Amino acid sequence: MNAQELMDTARTLVADDKGLLAMDESTPTCNKRFAGLGIPQTEKARHAWRELVVTTPGLGECISGVILYDETIRRQMQEGTPFAGAIADAGIIPGIKVDTGANDMAAHPGEKITEGLDGLRDRLAEYFHLGARFAKWRAVITVGDGLPSRACAEANAQSLARFAALCQEAGLVPVVEPEVLMDGRHTLKRCAEVTEEVLRTVFNHLYTQRVLLEGMILKPNMVLPGLTCPRQETVDEVADATVRCLMRAVPAAIGGIAFLSGGQSAELASARLQAMHVRFKSRLPWALSFSFARAIQQPAMEIWQGEEVNVPAAQRALYHRAMCNRAARRGEYISTMERM
Ligand code: 13P
Repeated sequence: MNAQELMDTARTLVADDKGLLAMDESTPTCNKRFAGLGIPQTEKARHAWRELVVTTPGLGECISGVILYDETIRRQMQEGTPFAGAIADAGIIPGIKVDTGANDMAAHPGEKITEGLDGLRDRLAEYFHLGARFAKWRAVITVGDGLPSRACAEANAQSLARFAALCQEAGLVPVVEPEVLMDGRHTLKRCAEVTEEVLRTVFNHLYTQRVLLEGMILKPNMVLPGLTCPRQETVDEVADATVRCLMRAVPAAIGGIAFLSGGQSAELASARLQAMHVRFKSRLPWALSFSFARAIQQPAMEIWQGEEVNVPAAQRALYHRAMCNRAARRGEYISTMERM
């Protein structure tokens, strides 16, 4: 492991107020998003969408790293350049999702354990060869009656830590994603308790597995009320609860923090990130960035509709979301930008 290279990559991923674009939807997830918009669920359509995203003019002004799915990193664009090469040529670092998905956890109804450790060392070496310089693993934690269980938090945290250690051995910066889901009626306070507990558990395991904190990125959820909770806190209340939770549970040494969007609207995700920067300014010990999938891609996908003629307008929408999130990191995002 070259510690300096890992630290440099991690720092570059959160530098200059840029953020990450997660376009690593598995085939079933990508098909689900397409189905919702009446776009054909074909390999050809997935390829066209991903090519549209990575060829968006100016993307590298706001995006430092792109997370790909296995299907994409092995493919070439229409004119023959491999996806990873085209991304690198645009000044963006290619990354790869390496977990193989969340499956039902034995003896724990309603809970999931993320898998993919078997053979991971070899897969990471191959992804490095294909051009990836960082990798992502997502664990999902469900909030509910008596959930999450201790077993679910511990097992997922251990897998995240083993993934992170293997990544660093292979020269890839791990993006450690323990996602506390928004689904449910739980309150913001409950989300804060669960998120803090999960993050403490994750960092205990990262320490046990000897993960270099400076050479990793944390990808957490924001602290939010459940989607169907009757009380929905304001943008400022969410910003305060989120930063308070992270301050308590996340070591200052890590390379950076990049939020997932988790099903929030694109505009709310930007507004909440903005509020964190405005309200906490220089008190943040880590770079506070974004690693959104839906909150960057969804508006553009709605415009695209699978039609070639809509590509330029969809790319403008994608660039716009990336630009709004970069502005949010600077504390310069204002709602009137949404009418531009
Ligand atoms: P969302 O921003 O849509 O939550 O996706 C982030 C991600 O990468 C999930 O693993």
